[in-house]
Formats: sequence, C-alpha cells, structure tokens
Amino acid sequence: MNITLCLTDTKPEPWKAGLQAAFPDARITNWQPGDPQADYAVVWAPPQAFLDQQAGLRAIFNIGAGVDALMKSRLPAGVPVVRLDDAGMSVQMAEFVAHAVIRHFRELDGYEADVALGKWSYRKPRLRSDFSVGVMGLGVLGQRVAQALRLFEFPVRGYSRSAKQVEGIECFSGPVGGEGFQAFLRGTRVLVCLLPLTPETENIIDRNTLAALAPGAYVINVARGAHLVEADLLDALARGQVAGATLDVFRTEPLPAGHAFWQHPQITVTPHTSARTLREESIAQIAGKIRALQAGAPLDAIAGVVNPERGY
Ligand code: NAP
Ligand code: GLV
Repeated sequence: MNITLCLTDTKPEPWKAGLQAAFPDARITNWQPGDPQADYAVVWAPPQAFLDQQAGLRAIFNIGAGVDALMKSRLPAGVPVVRLDDAGMSVQMAEFVAHAVIRHFRELDGYEADVALGKWSYRKPRLRSDFSVGVMGLGVLGQRVAQALRLFEFPVRGYSRSAKQVEGIECFSGPVGGEGFQAFLRGTRVLVCLLPLTPETENIIDRNTLAALAPGAYVINVARGAHLVEADLLDALARGQVAGATLDVFRTEPLPAGHAFWQHPQITVTPHTSARTLREESIAQIAGKIRALQAGAPLDAIAGVVNPERGY
C-alpha cells in the first residue's frame, strides 16, 4: 500500500512517522510532482497540481474538520474526501466556547480591569435565563458544545440543516433565512457559529442576523472567518445591539496588522486555536479508516465522508 502526504504549512515528518508505525509495510512518501499513483492521500491545503495527479486514489484524508478550502479546488472525480471526525477536537471546542460564554456572562473582563486598578468591586449577578446560547451547527462539534453549556444550566438552542432531537437542547432547522432560522435567532442572546463554510452559510452572520438576536447579544465565531460580515459586526457593536464578540477565525489569517478587530475593546481575538488538530488522535483515526477500507468496508460505514453536493 502507498500513502502520499501533501501537508502545506505542516511538518510532514511526524505524520509520516506515525503512519509508518501504523502501517510498517506501507510505502509512505511526501508528495513530489511526478510521483507514482498512491492508494491514499493525507492532506492539508494541497495545491491543485497535487489533486490533478490523484485520479487513482481510494480516498483523500483531510487533517482538519473543515473541508471548505479543499471543496474550492478541482477534486479528482469519484475520489472520496474524508474529514476528521472529532479526533479530540470536540472537547477542545467545548472548553473554548464554554470559557468564552462564562467569561462574558460572569463579566470576568470587568472584574479583571477593576482588580488591575486595585479595586474590590461587585457587579449585580446576571440571570442565567437571560443568556440563552444558540449554537449554529449541531454536528460533531456543535452538539458537544451545546451539551457542555447545558451542564452550566444555560438555556441552549441549536440550529442545523436537517431536523434533530438532542436531549436538553431546543432544536431548530431549515434553510438559512427561513422560518426555523429566524425562530432560532429570535430566542438567542449568545450566538455560537459552528457551521461548515459552504455557499449557503457564507456571510450568515450579517446585519440581519445580528439585528434578530436579543439586544446586548454576544457573538462567538469558531467556525470560519467568512461566516461573518466584519463591517456589520463593527456597526452592531457601535450601536450597542451587540455587546461583544470572541473571534477565533478570520477572513484573512493571520489577522492583518492594523485590522480593527485587534484593538477593539469589545472583541477578543484568538489565532484560530479553539480546536487544534491533535496529531496522535488524528493518525489513529485515519489509520483506522484506512484499515476499514482495506478490509472492504463500504464508504457509508466511514465517519466523516464529505458529501460533495452539500460541501461538508
Ligand atoms: P459537522 O459534524 O459536519 O457539522 C456541521 C453542522 O452544520 C451540522 O449540524 C449541519 O447540519 C450544519 N449545517 C451545515 N450546513 C448548514 C446549513 N446550510 N444550514 C444549517 N445548518 C447547516 O462539522 P463539525 O465537525 O461539527 O465542524 C464544524 C466546523 O467547525 C468545521 O466545518 C470547521 O469549519 C469548524 N472548525 C473550526 C475549528 C477551529 O479551530 N476554529 C476547528 C475545527 C472545526 P446537518 O446536521 O443537518 O447536516
Ligand atoms: C480547523 O479549523 C479545522 O477545520 O479542523
């Protein structure tokens, strides 16, 4: 068996070593133009020149959960793309989002500023029932985040494309902009974005979405920068419709020097780190899927196979 690696901005050696340990008899190489056809590819942001030579692959494994960048490329016809399915990301996302929600709800930034001034201050406790959290995207990561927030007794609602029933979560579904989406927004104060980036979800957090949220809303975007219309968020912050935001992802990454988000007093910026790819977990997951495919498992038995029509 041949496995080719094409990992942009990622050191390939540890991935190669990990896969080699999982498959001692396999030939594992870092892709070079003109290489012979491999059976499987493990990729991150591969160039088009790579994809154009991969018509004979049995599967392409993406070492991230989001496949938006890959979906914009010309993919080899009939070759399935398999994304990471959790692989240690959902617990990271749950701790990151819970931290952001709690930090806002408990006004911890305000306390920190007071303490820095040597001030012993109290704020009136806020009502948890006023801080309903709406999670857009009830997939692998969104459901874990929603369940984590339930443990802190926030009212939690979720929005997905297809109808769902998730214990303790008020679920809404339907097309972006449709009645289910509007009803979801109307009851949401803290909006969390955990959608994949697709043509339907691009720019989903725009002025209309922000205006539909409860006044004094808070926005947490941990999905992709292109979900958010940046100017609309800045405007909603200036008008007080939105009280603040935690943004982990941006249209341009790294966030350019001088961008308004860097110094904005109501925006917390983190460098796309809310849920990192964990190498060991990811290699174990990819190796398990390769073993299953080698043993003849059908594609629909493999978690994380991307539906090319839906784009996620
Ligand atoms: P997933 O399991 O595929 O879940 C996606 C969810 O979004 C599903 O519930 C899906 O609905 C819903 N959805 C998709 N398109 C929709 C639409 N047009 N309208 C309404 N709902 C829609 O994905 P995941 O593993 O949870 O990951 C979600 C995203 O998180 C990734 O795509 C990636 O962009 C982002 N991410 C970010 C980081 C980071 O460090 N910042 C790390 C990992 C992932 P259905 O259930 O009905 O299909
Ligand atoms: C990170 O953003 C991922 O999609 O895994």
